[in-house]
Amino acid sequence: KNIVILISGRGSNMQAIVAAATSQHWDARITAVISNRQEAEGLAFAEQQGIPTAVVSNKQYSTRSEFDAALQAQIDQFAPDLVVLAGFMRILTPEFVQHYAGRMINIHPSLLPNFTGLHTHRQALQAAVSEHGATVHVVTPELDHGPILGQARIPVIAGDNEESLAARVLEQEHVLYPSVIKQIIDGTINLRDQH
Ligand code: GRF
Repeated sequence: KNIVILISGRGSNMQAIVAAATSQHWDARITAVISNRQEAEGLAFAEQQGIPTAVVSNKQYSTRSEFDAALQAQIDQFAPDLVVLAGFMRILTPEFVQHYAGRMINIHPSLLPNFTGLHTHRQALQAAVSEHGATVHVVTPELDHGPILGQARIPVIAGDNEESLAARVLEQEHVLYPSVIKQIIDGTINLRDQH
């Protein structure tokens, strides 16, 4: 199976996925890491690992549909069975999402359906929840709303701030995301059964 990972920045989830794929001898390969930002720090790691990289800069397109069409063309050169959004910070058009229906997943730093969108750790603190975490879900046209494939939870403790929550949730993301992808590869999770 071919996996294409999309990033926008640091790429720590992408690194965790690449590391798990190698150490657990996944029956799959990361065929490319693609970023919408040339400056994305994660690109250097992918290159060091010998993984092909590409940049499709959203700044070079005047409309979202033109950008998505260019991105889609680039992704499809790597023939993905699975497209993994890992800190990819662009909203995608319904056409793009439809093209990858049943083969595109995302990780979101909250326990969905709570706290969609940005600043999830701030939202969690403001709501004074006792538990927070991360969710891996199928990508559907509505932002952060697709079927849930897996979640990781952490307790919110006295003195937590956005940074401390972000750090503890991220640590869980690095376990959760590879684990869900492994289950997809092994067929334990069937994306096309998800509604
Ligand atoms: C993660 O918290 C992810 O859940 C969110 O953006 C962050 C990306 O971090 N969508 P990284 O680029 O994987 O390090």
